[in-house]
Amino acid sequence: MADKAKFIQELSTRYTTKGESITLGKGMLDGDVVTEVEVKIPLKTINRHGLIAGATGTGKTKTLQVFAEQLSHAGVPSLVLDIKGDFSGIAEPGSENSIITERYAKTQLPYQPQAFPVELMTISGEKGVKLRATVSEFGPLLLSKILELNDTQQSIISIVFKYCDDKGLPLIDLDDLKKVLQYVTDNPQGKADLSNNYGSIAPASLGAILRSIVALEQQGAAQFFGEPSFDVEDLLQQRDGKGVVNILRVGNIQSKPQLFSTFMLSLFAEIYMNFPEEGDSGKPKLVLFIDEAHLIFNEASKTLLAQIETMVKLIRSKGVGIYFITQIPGDVPENVLSQLGLKIQHALRGFTAKDRKEISKAVENYPITEYYKADELIQNLGIGEAFITALDEKGIPTPLVHTYLISPESRMDVLNDAEVSDLTSRSALVAKYEQTVNKDSAYEMLASRMEQAVQNAEPTLKSRPVKEEPGVFESVMKSRAGRTFTTTLAREGAKFVLGMLGLGGRKR
Ligand SMILES: Nc1ncnc2c1ncn2[C@@H]1O[C@H](COP(=O)(O)OP(=O)(O)OP(=O)(O)O)[C@@H](O)[C@H]1O
Ligand SMILES: [Mg+2]
Repeated sequence: MADKAKFIQELSTRYTTKGESITLGKGMLDGDVVTEVEVKIPLKTINRHGLIAGATGTGKTKTLQVFAEQLSHAGVPSLVLDIKGDFSGIAEPGSENSIITERYAKTQLPYQPQAFPVELMTISGEKGVKLRATVSEFGPLLLSKILELNDTQQSIISIVFKYCDDKGLPLIDLDDLKKVLQYVTDNPQGKADLSNNYGSIAPASLGAILRSIVALEQQGAAQFFGEPSFDVEDLLQQRDGKGVVNILRVGNIQSKPQLFSTFMLSLFAEIYMNFPEEGDSGKPKLVLFIDEAHLIFNEASKTLLAQIETMVKLIRSKGVGIYFITQIPGDVPENVLSQLGLKIQHALRGFTAKDRKEISKAVENYPITEYYKADELIQNLGIGEAFITALDEKGIPTPLVHTYLISPESRMDVLNDAEVSDLTSRSALVAKYEQTVNKDSAYEMLASRMEQAVQNAEPTLKSRPVKEEPGVFESVMKSRAGRTFTTTLAREGAKFVLGMLGLGGRKR
């Protein structure tokens, strides 16, 4: 039997905060809830990121719900990537049942069923705020990464961006980009324009680029590129003092990994560029939750994976915390895992040798505890119970505490279709981003030019097959324009490392 008085003394001191905090539950010792020990996480260290892990059905998503509710109470907005579509209930009040009553009775905390302000968001055309970005906002470098282009193809994209910049051709959506590519290879005027000033493009490379664009479109990306582009400041709403919980439903990311990576990269880039450095504000500005994060680590493009590590480092000073929710800590790459301050570990199951290895690895990473046999208890934690270690206000890890989590105050089940319709039809933000603006951009401008060319000069142009022109690219790179180009690339490359994602060519 552990020394309860000592436990209360030590843990309650270490989980007390000077500044604002959120409450996740109460401590437990020898299987009993110890009401004197309230597990509080200082708001000040929420931007130090975290992990919610545990076997299926152990309560991870409900813990995330409690977490987002508590942040909302503190006025902190969040963005939840809801991969399984089981999170929308936070927009409706919970209803009391025996399980909840018992849970709150044990913790001696008041149960106050209530709804939280919610915005539903979408990148693939479901009901909600349409999140979009323009091609030019991405810049040539990031776009090439998303399209998984090789160096040669990437320099072509850079040339095309430069050309459009010089010619005043706005690149808004993927149609614009395709049209420009077509214009500079198919149209005599466009071809001459390009080769005189920048060098010509090898049709084989062009074909490869077009195929990549089409592949991205097949995952529904056409809807993602366009105007009006989403302003990340709109993620920072409060209503009646409560932070808004923004829920992005991204079901089925296995079928559209590239689209999802595209969205994530654009979100990171936008946050990075738009949010000011926060310094030590004592309160996070926005918290990003990624449920079923293992899918992202499995499916994401190499570019996204590489950027997540960088982003996790950089985004902290912008006052943004990122929380990964996944089954085992090993789902998260080591270099990301080592940067996570808060760990909420629900039960793990030790069925296989690999499972047992994961368990000992998880336990090894916790602060040493005299109160629990962590390696045994971790396998026997009840639903809605977890081992927690956080960072205190000085940034020092808090002692491991077996926590009895409170229940969500909002509904634990999802919204029905009528409730979703009602929520989205009342949203001012949905209305703001509903209209698709299709002002004259590269596509329209060039389409009319090409139409004219077809009528005037070359009646067979439309159906002319693309000719192979081997060696064209070499001449591009050797030409003066090619050399300028190499410098542009180097400069872009430096920006990529320094300022994160390809930041060139942005226009608002
Ligand atoms: N804090 C809690 N209070 C009350 N009930 C809870 C709590 N946490 C979990 N539960 C119960 O456990 C069930 C499963 O929880 P949850 O969906 O959060 O698990 P999960 O770990 O996210 O599972 P999966 O890996 O399958 O997504 C809930 O539907 C709920 O009935
Ligand atoms: Mg879940």
